Amino acid sequence: MENYRLLFVCLGNICRSPIAEGVFAHIAAEAGLGHAFVVDSAGTGAWHVGNPPDPRARAAAAARGIGISHLRARQVTREDFSDFDLILAMDRDNLETLRRLAKGNPGDRAKLFLDFAPAAGLREVPDPYYGGPQGFEEVLDLIEAASRGLLAHLAGNAKPVQRPVSG
Ligand code: 4NP
Repeated sequence: MENYRLLFVCLGNICRSPIAEGVFAHIAAEAGLGHAFVVDSAGTGAWHVGNPPDPRARAAAAARGIGISHLRARQVTREDFSDFDLILAMDRDNLETLRRLAKGNPGDRAKLFLDFAPAAGLREVPDPYYGGPQGFEEVLDLIEAASRGLLAHLAGNAKPVQRPVSG
């Protein structure tokens, strides 16, 4: 199949969703499946459009070997529903906004990201913006778990790594 296109969505696109974009890309690359996915992120709000991720998000991701400083915030658009195969919302508010925006497009291509981490015991990635650095560690943990779950879920559909035929 063609590249599978994933869009991660939160409120500001400077904390949770750019972390998710970076973490999923990193985990897919580690699994040899980096080529199988196109990843992007966006916010339902427009306050931070054009800005890099929050310094606390950059630091927490960098501490796990994941660089996200090159990313820039953008707002989600109606076209995202035709441009992406799956849209992963960080919380229910984001999901509701996405479904309203989807009008006429398949709104069911938007899902709660943490539904791919059933063992996490939470359905929403908490908004870390007004909290301290510990909040970002929890966000990273949840996003890592959901990224692994999502990759496992999609790996059956994703184009397998091309290996030379042996023997
Ligand atoms: P995010 O966090 O949705 O994870 O990017 C937030 C960033 C900014 C704001 C809220 C949440 N804000 O209100 O500006």
